[in-house]
Amino acid sequence: MIEKIAKLNQRFKNQEPKKVLKQFLEEYKEKIALSSSFGAEDQVLSDMILKIDESAEIFTLDTGRLPYETYDVMNRTNLKYKTKIKVYFPHSRDVEELYQKQGINGFYNSVENRKECCYVRKIVPLQRALKGVDIWITGIRAEQSPTREDMQLFEWDEANRVIKLNPLVSWSQSDVWDYIKANDVPYNALHDKGYPSIGCAPCTRAVKDGEDIRSGRWWWEDPKHKECGLHIKDTKC
Ligand code: ADX
Ligand code: SF4
Repeated sequence: MIEKIAKLNQRFKNQEPKKVLKQFLEEYKEKIALSSSFGAEDQVLSDMILKIDESAEIFTLDTGRLPYETYDVMNRTNLKYKTKIKVYFPHSRDVEELYQKQGINGFYNSVENRKECCYVRKIVPLQRALKGVDIWITGIRAEQSPTREDMQLFEWDEANRVIKLNPLVSWSQSDVWDYIKANDVPYNALHDKGYPSIGCAPCTRAVKDGEDIRSGRWWWEDPKHKECGLHIKDTKC
């Protein structure tokens, strides 16, 4: 698989995201899906994807702790594109057990608790969402954090055993916003309130000008823990 990924990266190097998406949406129809957190990058990708194929699969992981603004942009997106983005929820039994174990905001008490909450509310639903999917499209950009600076257009995701496609990997933040403005893409109102990165309400806050884009995520933790487990780089393949 390493060879296949390397070849794909070589072949599609410097190609426009739209072109790459078109090719893969056609080739992998019904085996390709975009995961959306309704952040700016995912809104760009939803716009590109739905203009290519209005029936393409886009899903979100609703942790049950999302901010109001995220539901609002989800609704506006569904209306604008006449679609219904798929929603995966965590299992109610798992959430009830999590509550019994660590209380309602137990994620503030330890990294272990926080990871367990992310596992129940995001990772398990992601595994369900990716069943039968060969290509997982994400809105990751290399510039987003030091842990992502080596990310490639194509990656192998060992945890879910799928090929990950990151069409905006080499885009800058201003590329994203230029596209949003030029195409009148609905965007999350939190971006106008100082949130460059969109996540769960209790675990995400606004950042000041010049601060790291992801510094508002799990802000009480050491930066080296700042991944929820959706995007752990693992090259085994
Ligand atoms: S996270 O791992 O820290 O949460 P981040 O918020 O940077 O990830 O988002 C990176 C990509 O992960 C998004 O572009 C999207 O593809 C996916 N993603 C993150 N959160 C969700 C979510 N709640 N639902 C669906 N996809 C998500
Ligand atoms: Fe739980 Fe926070 Fe992770 Fe959301 S980001 S799943 S609330 S720990």
